Amino acid sequence: SLHTPKDQLLRPIRDLRISVTDRCNFRCSYCMPKEIFGDDYVFLPKSELLTFEEIHRLTRLFVSLGVEKIRLTGGEPLMRRGLPELVSAIGTVYGVQDIGLTTNGVLLGQQAGPLFDAGLRRLNVSLDALDTELFKQLNGRGIAPEFILQQIDHAVAVGFEVKVNMVVQKGVNDSEILPMAAYFKARGITLRFIEFMDVGHGNGWSFEKVTPKAEILERLQSVYELLPVDSNYFGEVAKRYRYKDSSAEVGFITSVSESFCSSCTRARLSSDGKFYTCLFAAQGFDLRGLIRSGADDRTVLAAITEVWEKRADRYSDERTEETARSKERISMSYIGG
Ligand code: GTP
Ligand code: 5AD
Ligand code: SF4
Ligand code: SF4
Repeated sequence: SLHTPKDQLLRPIRDLRISVTDRCNFRCSYCMPKEIFGDDYVFLPKSELLTFEEIHRLTRLFVSLGVEKIRLTGGEPLMRRGLPELVSAIGTVYGVQDIGLTTNGVLLGQQAGPLFDAGLRRLNVSLDALDTELFKQLNGRGIAPEFILQQIDHAVAVGFEVKVNMVVQKGVNDSEILPMAAYFKARGITLRFIEFMDVGHGNGWSFEKVTPKAEILERLQSVYELLPVDSNYFGEVAKRYRYKDSSAEVGFITSVSESFCSSCTRARLSSDGKFYTCLFAAQGFDLRGLIRSGADDRTVLAAITEVWEKRADRYSDERTEETARSKERISMSYIGG
């Protein structure tokens, strides 16, 4: 195969998270706080978004450098018109071994079918609470959890492998840990608990608002017997456990309490074509500018390689109250997690 670059910490490039829009139909306070993303907030105009052709081309180039897994994100990716076409195009790229999509689920009723037909098989659906009032408040748009649960049932019926992501904020929704576990265990759906992170600005993060994995696990173990499961592949983000009396799993994404930067093989592409080497990066490399200036494949490959070989990011290993407060970084909804 071609030259596959390694970064400064000898990490290869294996995963590409592609944001297809900076818009979202939710306003989760930790991601798109209403004070910042209000009615007058200016989102990217269509002309600044990468076209599907451009995303397809960049995917092909990233794959030739070692990327095997693609994840589509947003904002809310289902708000991008024609998404199934993009899924089909990415599916034809030789070397892509896995495509996933991370969504809030609202639009799955219309889109699960077409996305499945386009070849998508894996969905991660975000859901932070089952309590009706709490969830309505958390998503900032008054959508009831029952509605998202229906969309999940629909996606499962269509044939998707669905996992659920729950961002746990201490004192906000940690009371939902056990109800969520019971609900998804009964349905054999993997639930992942995500430690609240200091991504973006204005989400009020502090160490005190994080419920660490150890505490969540302890609460689960007061009710269930759980057995650790080996990771599926090098650099898998979630730490996995299986219930002793069922095949259902839970996972933990421990960016705060047990960071996983040393095996981080993830690259990120924003919807306007900037290439970021960390979720907490301040600056991205403008690949859209490069390709729209007419650069040939060799030139684009050289640019990606150069950026990756310079990469030394390990933000979560180095996080302190001070970095959380003052480090410049991109916003979550812009880079898609
Ligand atoms: P799978 O392929 O299904 O394992 O997906 P995933 O867990 O890699 O992706 P998903 O979009 O579901 O992300 C789950 C959570 O992990 C989100 O909160 C992401 O922001 C977080 N996450 C994913 N990759 C990274 C990373 O490289 N660094 C940090 N700090 N968090 C990450
Ligand atoms: N901390 C942890 N996870 C977050 N997500 C969004 N913002 C944060 C945050 N501050 C999650 C979403 C979604 C995934 C892409 O990232 O809930 O599941
Ligand atoms: Fe939208 Fe997801 Fe951000 Fe919530 S976390 S505002 S659903 S992009
Ligand atoms: Fe990777 Fe940056 Fe997350 Fe560390 S903080 S795991 S380097 S994206």
